[in-house]
Amino acid sequence: MPDVNVHDKTFSPFITADLIQKRVAELGAAIDTDYAGKKPLLIGVLNGSVIFMADLLRHIKSACEIGFIRVSSYHGTESSGKVRNVMGINDDITGRDIIIVEDIVDTGDTAVYLIDEIKKKNPASIKFATILFKPTALRHAIKPDYIGFEIPPAFVVGYGLDYDGLGRNLADIYQLKS
Ligand code: IMP
Repeated sequence: MPDVNVHDKTFSPFITADLIQKRVAELGAAIDTDYAGKKPLLIGVLNGSVIFMADLLRHIKSACEIGFIRVSSYHGTESSGKVRNVMGINDDITGRDIIIVEDIVDTGDTAVYLIDEIKKKNPASIKFATILFKPTALRHAIKPDYIGFEIPPAFVVGYGLDYDGLGRNLADIYQLKS
């Protein structure tokens, strides 16, 4: 596969679409097993989770619902370290089994913030699913429950992940060429 250019930067192929699809199918099957007899509510974090959410959802065979929230926190290729605001959890989620669906957990700031915010609304349970996890960048004692791939701390685009708004539509995941 050739490199791709996004804005001013070049990215090399990293995780193929085939491999991603196989892994997402496994995550869907695991969720099916873990939530047998329940009706989880998957909450996707916009914009990055849209593609992962759409794929994951189609691999969950049992009844489930979805919703989306939005947090703004990240600019360029480095985390600003500031989680600002969450929009969209207006529905009553009391007693629901929640699975937060993210594109990537990097420092973990967003994940911790979201878990805290959602906990305030008294769900029955909260789990966290992410297609990518950068464990070396983590600043909190958390580990996502469903992880697609653990990756080194390189900046990546594709499969929903962007570099300043572009690159989300790439079917494969690419990493920044140093
Ligand atoms: P965290 O709060 O540092 O864990 O960052 C979470 C958010 O940062 C993700 O939802 C992404 O939007 C963004 N992010 C972190 N790493 C990358 C990356 O390598 N590529 C694109 N976006 C990233």
